[in-house]
Amino acid sequence: MSALRHFLDLDQLDAATLRKILALAADLKKGRPPSANPLPLAGKTLAMIFEKPSTRTRVSFEVGIRQLGGHAVILTEHDTHLGRGETIADTARVLSRYCDAIFLRTTSAAKLTELARHASVPVINGLTERSHPCQVIADVMTFEEHRGDIAGKVIAWSGDGNNVAASWIHAAARFRFDLRLACPGQLRPSRETLEWAKREGARIALTEDPAEAVRGADCVVTDTWLSMDAETKVQREMREKRHNMLAPFRVDERLMALAKPAAVFMHCLPAHRGEEVTAGVIDGPQSVVWDEAENRLHVQKGILAWCMA
Ligand code: CP
Ligand code: NVA
Repeated sequence: MSALRHFLDLDQLDAATLRKILALAADLKKGRPPSANPLPLAGKTLAMIFEKPSTRTRVSFEVGIRQLGGHAVILTEHDTHLGRGETIADTARVLSRYCDAIFLRTTSAAKLTELARHASVPVINGLTERSHPCQVIADVMTFEEHRGDIAGKVIAWSGDGNNVAASWIHAAARFRFDLRLACPGQLRPSRETLEWAKREGARIALTEDPAEAVRGADCVVTDTWLSMDAETKVQREMREKRHNMLAPFRVDERLMALAKPAAVFMHCLPAHRGEEVTAGVIDGPQSVVWDEAENRLHVQKGILAWCMA
């Protein structure tokens, strides 16, 4: 493992490190800085490269680093030379000379790996088509605030076996909870991720029946039917096919009622009411999505403090 504190994926960090980041986040949420210095990132700069849109991730990182004394430089591929063919490797080398860490939200996990290979400062994964670790570590924090230690609990995913689902699989191995995934056969998480989980001894169950996944669960999670990558690639008729495939996986009141009465509902947002989740569930009493969104800020600060302080 590199000596640099990259935050690339939950499968690349051990449980003790993830717990440390969560503890930093919890302390920061209570207003306790990680050291005697209330501004541990004073004078530090985070370069943030976005190849895809973002509301939560961008704002929580930008506000978070500012609260820790540092600041962020926001870059899109259109206002850097990345959009004109300058390589990721050269961009990594140059940004490392100016900045103290680099964040990337990208269409290709390979670009993230390449960035980390050539950067001489920590690199943070702000979402790829394969994973979304900053989201799921905040989800673990949110679950534990509401329902206590996640170890041994049952988390049910119903929907597309996408990037967020992959990070939930990584988290199941690191935090030792049971993860039941209900996905259409054609939209299962990748075999590579499932095989990794098996090697790690993670307790993962895969089904095409949402009721089977959700029955007795402590938490029900879903996500959009059309991730940002799919949105650009999938043609209209494919989109309809995908919606038809995913409709039985919608989290509605009937499905939610199969979970434990105290179960919470989570969604990384943005949500599409009437598609992957009904308004009754996401705006209902079991939903903790606004706490989940808020915790992105605290966890982002924990990640930044761990990577950069
Ligand atoms: N959940 C999440 O990452 O949201 P954004 O795409 O708005 O950053
Ligand atoms: N799966 C979604 C998550 C958005 C935060 C996407 O990749 O678009």
